[in-house]
Amino acid sequence: MDRLKDIKLTGFCEIEKAPPCGFVLFGASGDLAAKKLLPSLFKLYKSGRVEEKFFVVGFARTLMDDESFRDRVRKAVKDGVGEDRGRAIDSFASRCFYVAGGYENVPSYIELGNRLKMLDKEFHTEGNVVFKLAVPPDLYGTITLQLSKNLLIKKGRNEGPFQRIMVEKPFGRDFESAASLNRMMLEYLTDDQIFRIDHYLGKNTVQNILVFRFANMIFEPVWNHKNIDHIQITLSEDTGVENRAGYFERAGLIRDIFQNHLMQVLTLVAMEQPISFDAESINNEKIKVISSIEPFRRESLDNSIIRGQYRGYRDEPGVDKNSCVETYFASKLFINNSRWRNTPFYIRAGKMLSKKYTKIHVVFKEMTGCLFCKLGIEHEPNILTFGIQPEQEVSLKFMAKVPGARLCLSPLDMVFNYRELFGTDIWGDYETVILDCMLGDKTLFWRKDGLEMSWKLLTPVLNEWEECPAKERSKRLFFYERGSNGPEEAISFIGRDNKAWLD
Ligand code: BG6
Repeated sequence: MDRLKDIKLTGFCEIEKAPPCGFVLFGASGDLAAKKLLPSLFKLYKSGRVEEKFFVVGFARTLMDDESFRDRVRKAVKDGVGEDRGRAIDSFASRCFYVAGGYENVPSYIELGNRLKMLDKEFHTEGNVVFKLAVPPDLYGTITLQLSKNLLIKKGRNEGPFQRIMVEKPFGRDFESAASLNRMMLEYLTDDQIFRIDHYLGKNTVQNILVFRFANMIFEPVWNHKNIDHIQITLSEDTGVENRAGYFERAGLIRDIFQNHLMQVLTLVAMEQPISFDAESINNEKIKVISSIEPFRRESLDNSIIRGQYRGYRDEPGVDKNSCVETYFASKLFINNSRWRNTPFYIRAGKMLSKKYTKIHVVFKEMTGCLFCKLGIEHEPNILTFGIQPEQEVSLKFMAKVPGARLCLSPLDMVFNYRELFGTDIWGDYETVILDCMLGDKTLFWRKDGLEMSWKLLTPVLNEWEECPAKERSKRLFFYERGSNGPEEAISFIGRDNKAWLD
């Protein structure tokens, strides 16, 4: 790209390569493996980020042999990356193997162990293994226990050969279950060996929030309650639960998206500058934010959070006809610290809405007593917008003079768009987090205490919503049309504060 030649790069711009290692994929016959993990592993391999000293072993209940697994690998890569022939895919598929087994079945782990020993010799992976658990969270404890009992993982192994476990969200269902899962896993592993994924942290645009805030002088001095009126964070999806009704019926959108992705985004927007750019310091600051959020109160819950469900959700295959699971929520939070005193953070997410996008809007206060206001000229507030996806951009809305002889003003946008400048990003979020786990870098992963704190904040809401709507206002479920912008009540929710949702 021509425009790129003028860009001055600074920092750690070279992508590191993974050390030799085997990758064991539990849940290898599932959706996540096919849609995200196998294509990402292939991209890592093809780009040379993982080298020849690398193999993949799929593990799942489905009976199949190496060859049938390789067919699935090829299909996943074809669907995900659009590549189905050539040296790279042939070579990648040839290092994929499969063990069929039950997650509680000791002989299956013995077979897996034997396979790993042989493959370690063949591919010279020096005993390093990453175990990726792409299975429901209620299996995390069982698998960890079996891996430990069968000597496939050893606690504290972080020097010399490493053994690490990567887990998906939701990690638990509420505070109690998350804490007990942590206790259980920490019996067999140290926290350094557990990588709790949040794929949002793998997104370039999410990582950019910290760079934007802490590498630019002009925003940090105004990043506080004195200058900012409120902040909106929106994750809108135009699809429903697709073929994940079984999971979604037990989870709902708070567990699926708020407790993890949106909480991470919130912490990055609100945190203080960490003392250094390492996993510990960053996580320390995130935890301060989560622990300063004003707790939800049962008596006034409907002022802080409301839930909705799209019409037709109850007719989806696998969904209970009377389901009260939320497919939408809108909430208002306050962070009790000196930076954010009385500044509302509005957070909303929904499935089956009109468009797919994730955005953060930082809405500045209106100017008072300004030169042009005195002339009765209307002003709009400055709004800084981070487009996380699909538009990957940062834009600033500001007032400007319209060309011409008259004093005519208009709000305009100053836009920086990643794709326009750097082209389409072929490096996805899962590639980033898998590579970081292989490298042992925990910066982009949840730490135990932050994760538990996030559950602690949301557990009272989850408990309240466990029951279907009764007479109480706090339990109400608001229905909305497919393809709409969510329930009408969400408009009045923010409208009560004389504000409106921004797209
Ligand atoms: C996943 C949720 O973690 O994130 C899904 O389980 C959701 O329900 C997805 O659709 C959204 O991720 P992204 O990257 O498409 O915004």
